[in-house]
Amino acid sequence: MFIYHTIAEVRRYVREARSIGQSIGLVPTMGYLHEGHLELVRQAKKRCDKVIVSIFVNPTQFGPGEDLERYPRDLDRDARLSEGVGADVIFNPPVAEMYPAGYCTYVDVERITEHLCGQARPGHFRGVATVVTKLFNIVRPDVAFFGQKDAQQALVINRMVADLDMDLEVVTVTTVREPDGLAMSSRNVYLEPEQRRAALALSRSLRRAEEVFQAGERDAARIRQLVIDMIKKEALLEIDYVEIYSHPELEPIDQIEGPALLALAVKTGRARLIDNTVLR
Ligand code: PAJ
Repeated sequence: MFIYHTIAEVRRYVREARSIGQSIGLVPTMGYLHEGHLELVRQAKKRCDKVIVSIFVNPTQFGPGEDLERYPRDLDRDARLSEGVGADVIFNPPVAEMYPAGYCTYVDVERITEHLCGQARPGHFRGVATVVTKLFNIVRPDVAFFGQKDAQQALVINRMVADLDMDLEVVTVTTVREPDGLAMSSRNVYLEPEQRRAALALSRSLRRAEEVFQAGERDAARIRQLVIDMIKKEALLEIDYVEIYSHPELEPIDQIEGPALLALAVKTGRARLIDNTVLR
């Protein structure tokens, strides 16, 4: 496995692979890899000849006061884990390689970024769409892999690829969970044991919402309230949002008629956790 820090090195690698007819898969990450990331790499390896994992803590998607500086980083460990699941290249550029002095171009996906994390974290998806566009232009992948864990992000990327005629396929991979249900996240390392236990209310409330939906409940407000009530029972959790929107358009709905995204964000201590399920 190769570890590259410059755009030129990645481009050279991709050019050579393509010249012998190989397909390229891209897994964009911010590193501190866990099973969720590794599952994306495994899926990529199944579909593509060569898999490039980008590891870049992208400053443009962090707001003021967010965890950019203390975001966990460990390149040696990430390299070991990536190699173990068959990655061919790690692309780990320094910030100045991606955003050199004078940088001033951004990608703005409208409408579906208005709610949920787009509302809670102004500018977040502009940073995500921008860096992902840059990664697509650098790697020119045939297929790029994203996790359902970040449901709105996956929808934003799909929308952007369609709207800007980007010539690649986007694959969304099911959320990987700990055995007790907690969605895996690099930010889970922020959790103290008591917060870690309280955080189980996220996945538990989503499972309960799925049950009442399967039993016939179609009223979005009632399902939303049920989730809020379950999370509020945990004193250590502070709700950022619990919302239901149509999927994949992310439009407000009262009655669930087609697929709907039930998404939530919760703060506990230094951590902000997100999770979701698609009711269909
Ligand atoms: P990061 O949080 O590192 O996540 C990288 C990819 O892994 C994303 O597509 C995310 O949805 C996926 N992922 C994270 N946890 C997962 C889980 N438990 N199960 C399945 N997939 C999971 O998301 C980002 O980085 C950044 O915003 C990025 C797209 C790299 C742009 O900077």
